[in-house]
Amino acid sequence: MSIRYNEATKQFILETASTCYQIEIDELGFLHHLYYGPKTGQGDLAYRYRIYDHGFSGNPYDMRNNRAFSLDSMPQEYTSFGVGDFRVTSIRASCSDGSRCFEFRYSGHEIIDGKYAIPDLPSVYNNDDEVQTLVVSLIDGPANIAIRLYYGVFENLDVITRTAEIINWGHETVWLRKASSLCLELPFGSWDMIHFHGRHCMERQPERVPLFHGIHTLSSGRGMSSHQHNPFVILCDRTATEDSGACYGMMLMYSGNHKTEIELDQFDSVRVVMGVSDDRFRWELTPGASFRAPEVILSCADGLTQLSHRFHRVVRNNVCRGEYKLSHRPVLINNWEATYFDLNEEKIVALAQKAADIGVELFVLDDGWFKNRVDDNAGLGDWTPDTNKLPNGLDGLIKKINDMGLKFGLWVEPEMVNENSDLYRAHPDWAMTAPNRAPMMARNQLVLDLSREEVHEYIFDTLSGLLSKYNITYIKWDFNRPLADVYSHSTPSPRQGEVTHRYYLSLYRLYERLTKAFPHVLFEGCAGGGGRFDAGMLQYSPQIWCSDNTDPISRLTIQYGTSFGYPVSAIGAHVSATPNHQTGRLTPLSTRGTVAMMGAFGYELDMTKLSDEELEEMKGQIKRFKELEPMIHNGLYYRLSSMKESGHYFAWQFVAPDKSRSLLSIVVTNPLANSTPVHVRLKGLDSDAIYSVNGEFECTGSALMNAGYTFPQLTGDYPALQLDIIKVK
Ligand code: DGJ
Repeated sequence: MSIRYNEATKQFILETASTCYQIEIDELGFLHHLYYGPKTGQGDLAYRYRIYDHGFSGNPYDMRNNRAFSLDSMPQEYTSFGVGDFRVTSIRASCSDGSRCFEFRYSGHEIIDGKYAIPDLPSVYNNDDEVQTLVVSLIDGPANIAIRLYYGVFENLDVITRTAEIINWGHETVWLRKASSLCLELPFGSWDMIHFHGRHCMERQPERVPLFHGIHTLSSGRGMSSHQHNPFVILCDRTATEDSGACYGMMLMYSGNHKTEIELDQFDSVRVVMGVSDDRFRWELTPGASFRAPEVILSCADGLTQLSHRFHRVVRNNVCRGEYKLSHRPVLINNWEATYFDLNEEKIVALAQKAADIGVELFVLDDGWFKNRVDDNAGLGDWTPDTNKLPNGLDGLIKKINDMGLKFGLWVEPEMVNENSDLYRAHPDWAMTAPNRAPMMARNQLVLDLSREEVHEYIFDTLSGLLSKYNITYIKWDFNRPLADVYSHSTPSPRQGEVTHRYYLSLYRLYERLTKAFPHVLFEGCAGGGGRFDAGMLQYSPQIWCSDNTDPISRLTIQYGTSFGYPVSAIGAHVSATPNHQTGRLTPLSTRGTVAMMGAFGYELDMTKLSDEELEEMKGQIKRFKELEPMIHNGLYYRLSSMKESGHYFAWQFVAPDKSRSLLSIVVTNPLANSTPVHVRLKGLDSDAIYSVNGEFECTGSALMNAGYTFPQLTGDYPALQLDIIKVK
């Protein structure tokens, strides 16, 4: 049993294999957070909580004689609003009489076997794991607004999921202005925050900063989880390292506007509130209606590596779905950086033939294949093949590609429309534009208003039409601009604050319908590279194009940052041309291969321009990747270098689940003269076993993990080395 309720102490105890979460219903019915951390072997942790008299923090009316009792300092599971807790709030709303005060007190609970689901939203699901759900209900009496807090306890995964449901049991409409998924308090300790910021072509750059007093906000209002702030954050002890120290990870399973607020308050206590962004959010809750917040995946671990491993496991096994989640992902060639829009059947066939000859398994036809799409000014919305470029139609092209033994994949950007398209001319009101205002343009395109049912149906019909008509086994689903001028021409004006969230509800439903209708198709997410790299998208597309930056040296940091929360199998990574198209940098093919092998591996360059030697080397890379893929995608991934070392080198390691083999990789980003040798201590091996190190010598796992390994000196331009560590005894 992972969830217990102690009637005598009024405490909930939630336990996973190595962690424990405790909640207490206090004497007034407030839901008081007691503890989240390593298992303590102690049922009741209420002794840990003492309340001091805090001047200027007020008291609930029934505690007016106890000046120490204040919502302003009490660690809570979800906050009230407007009644004396002046910290970051989980909820904000206004009633029809204009009042904006809510005090939520316990009204009941349920402990249920299995995992709850969230209608219309992606969520972590249960395989054969031990999972229980706790639902705690709270109510604000005067307004008759209820909150149900959900806790999914995945015992063996060491993960707890959280979400909230807000229900209007009153007789009047209530306007929700904020409805977070999670409130987590860390009342003691001193913490660093690790977050993943960035920009287009430089996503998920890790930054570790000490918390300072005040509120840190990580958010996106771009209508996408964004290149700028990923909805994943870690709080770790100031002294935490990869190997030890308290680390808490919080990942929002959501692809739209999000916000995480981390407050270090006057009493040095930390509160984290995470959920859909409240900026421009306003949700009509009519009597009887409820709002479901997206899910947060929560884990706590000893060291950053263990935390990453827990997230990798849950995201790979319990978030991703479908037949590709754990099985082989076809090695692909994508024509984007080979041809851009300047494609035709002849070029594509020539490229595909080169790729087929060296062992590539899937050809992906990127942007530019449809009517009027000669550049990015026209065509989006009209998904019929361009017969000027493809005189034999898609059918003819696919047949030729299939005849080479390659599968066929297609790029689409179904949420978008160009003004210069038949779709826009027929339905200008389907685009999101604000009344009487020229819209912001980005890449000459507008966003379709997916919150409208007819738009949803149009996209479903278009995509299912393509998938039914052609032999397509892979879809790259792109999204190349943020949402601005957010306005739905079919939504009444008071409810315009619902449009962005409704857009995502509709998008998830679309994905749900398509993945059910076409279970054999592999979907790869994309948003100008990694602008929607989040656990919401990963529910439907088990891999996401990680970045439009294909330079291996830039990719090292992008993939390193991504690896803190997301599994390697989710990271779309390609070998591209040198000099690189984004940075102009020259790098060896072996380095490009080494970096792309930290992901769902593929190629994206004009193979018809390569020498026989280069093609031969690629053939070797493909063979090697196919052999190593089960370990790379489903084994354990270790970061062996830190950001401090990245100015000199990046080193990382994969270990097979049974520890029988490992792959040690290094890329030197800046060879140094007369430098100290690069030395790493390997991880995750079997201490007592004997391993062969690249066939050069043998030693124990313990030696490699404790005495470590010293790399030979690597010189030249961005050299890379991969070492096979194979158990021999
Ligand atoms: C952005 C994507 O990230 C690229 O890989 C490519 O598909 C282009 N869009 C095509 O327009």
